[in-house]
Amino acid sequence: MSDVYSITYYIRAGGKSFVVRPPLSPEEHYELMDLERKIWGNDYRDTVPYHITIPLIDMGGVVLGVYEVGSGRAVGVLVMFPTYTDGEVHYHSHILGLLKEYRGKGLGTEVKKVQREVSLKRGIKLITWTYDPLLLSNAWLNLVKMGVISSQYRINYYGTGSFEYNKGVETDRLMVRWYLTSERVTSRIEGKGLWKPLDYYLHDAEATIVLEGSLDSKKGFLRPGKPNLIARAPVILVRIPKDFERMIRGDLQLAKEWRLASRLVLSHYLNRGYLLADVTKDSVVARYYYVLWRASEERVLRGELP
Ligand SMILES: CC(C)(COP(=O)(O)OP(=O)(O)OC[C@H]1O[C@@H](n2cnc3c(N)ncnc32)[C@H](O)[C@@H]1OP(=O)(O)O)[C@@H](O)C(=O)NCCC(=O)NCCS
Repeated sequence: MSDVYSITYYIRAGGKSFVVRPPLSPEEHYELMDLERKIWGNDYRDTVPYHITIPLIDMGGVVLGVYEVGSGRAVGVLVMFPTYTDGEVHYHSHILGLLKEYRGKGLGTEVKKVQREVSLKRGIKLITWTYDPLLLSNAWLNLVKMGVISSQYRINYYGTGSFEYNKGVETDRLMVRWYLTSERVTSRIEGKGLWKPLDYYLHDAEATIVLEGSLDSKKGFLRPGKPNLIARAPVILVRIPKDFERMIRGDLQLAKEWRLASRLVLSHYLNRGYLLADVTKDSVVARYYYVLWRASEERVLRGELP
């Protein structure tokens, strides 16, 4: 039996204890599929089938359930497969999700730390994954807390027919890279390498806002401004709306406008040598922005920020 079956981590979040371990029987694999359906929207098309996850564990991949201690219930799932790019083996983290009632309590952060530990134990130093750049909570977790970087934008990655939450909106994704042993990542994980506030970027770093938003008084959602594609500043900022998922349900047309505007600026500047380096926010009203920096990957991985 492969050593992956012996992976067991105990973690705590929101006052509760959880065990993170692989599913140990076909039934537990089915259970994770059912869980994925609940997380990503009631459709088996949006789940990773058991006949993939069972061999995946055997063949060097990682499939982990997050089980609540006491009830034994699976409340979270993580799937990574090994990949081979540019002569190096790394992991691609395909999915990580928690049941809604377990989100926002630090559990995702703890599971990411387990993901890093498991990978390092196998000698893997890079994990990639994709996420929707308009999901603020994912952006904050990925960039600010975990220290990923990104320079690759994928347009309508999964098509429009997928995933309940973004029905009707094109599924753009950022491909992120998590360099597990870099200074940037280790300090972020330890809570040391902190993000800088919006005021700092606007005044000290002389950043240019290339996509702003203004409040639409009718529905209370943010409306994207006109994208600026001719900025030359070394640091640029891109506004992120606060609740994109709610916007999709409440004003689909506006959500589509956000998709197009953010796609335009992010793909434009990433293609021109900027790196997605952080998220910043205003300390008074919660305005959130991506921070893009025209700097080398080495500098950013050393933990430098503009
Ligand atoms: C993505 C996910 C795994 C994160 O797990 P989580 O337990 O909710 O994350 P955490 O509680 O550890 O929060 C991470 C950070 O994001 C912040 N955050 C969460 N929601 C936020 C929001 N709406 N706005 C701003 N920040 C937010 C948290 O405050 C925390 O940062 P902090 O510690 O500095 O305050 C979880 O939300 C989830 O399952 N989402 C649905 C599935 C999904 O999108 N998966 C990822 C793509 S495959």
